[in-house]
Amino acid sequence: MSKRPIIIEPDPILRKKSQSLENVDNDLRKLLDDMLETMYEAPGIGLAAVQIGILKRLIVIDISKEDQKKNPLFLINPIITYKSKNTSSYEEGCLSLPGHYAEIERPSECHLEFLDYNGKKKKLEAQGLLATCIQHEVDHLNGILFIDYLSKLKKDMIIKKLKKNKKDLEKIIL
Ligand code: NI
Repeated sequence: MSKRPIIIEPDPILRKKSQSLENVDNDLRKLLDDMLETMYEAPGIGLAAVQIGILKRLIVIDISKEDQKKNPLFLINPIITYKSKNTSSYEEGCLSLPGHYAEIERPSECHLEFLDYNGKKKKLEAQGLLATCIQHEVDHLNGILFIDYLSKLKKDMIIKKLKKNKKDLEKIIL
């Protein structure tokens, strides 16, 4: 496994739609392993392939707490088949938007169909934090970021700050 660099907003690739996968082979599993390591190291509880620059419909998630056993979930070609009318709110962050958080309201339950690490068809009914995490990551596959749910003013302010941070970083590299 190896850690990959995470793409930070603003970057046009984060706005692109990811493509479905045809088959699940060892190369793909290697990529999923890299995504998982990148997410654990960050640390974060979810990562979509586009966040390491790969436009494929792949997600890794692990919402287990620090003192619990790791419980990784690999989602290949996930499709949300149901979203509840009931909603819940979480203070969301994103590895591609470091240092920024906002309360986002989403359906509190969702159902999902996907292929697992071995390419087997699976179904999942998720609630609470897991449901929010899945919806946040599936948004990434469609080029959507959590800041898209905020007012234009708030969103523009966050992008401006991230842009400035990027410029400062470049200065240090030079
Ligand atoms: Ni994210």
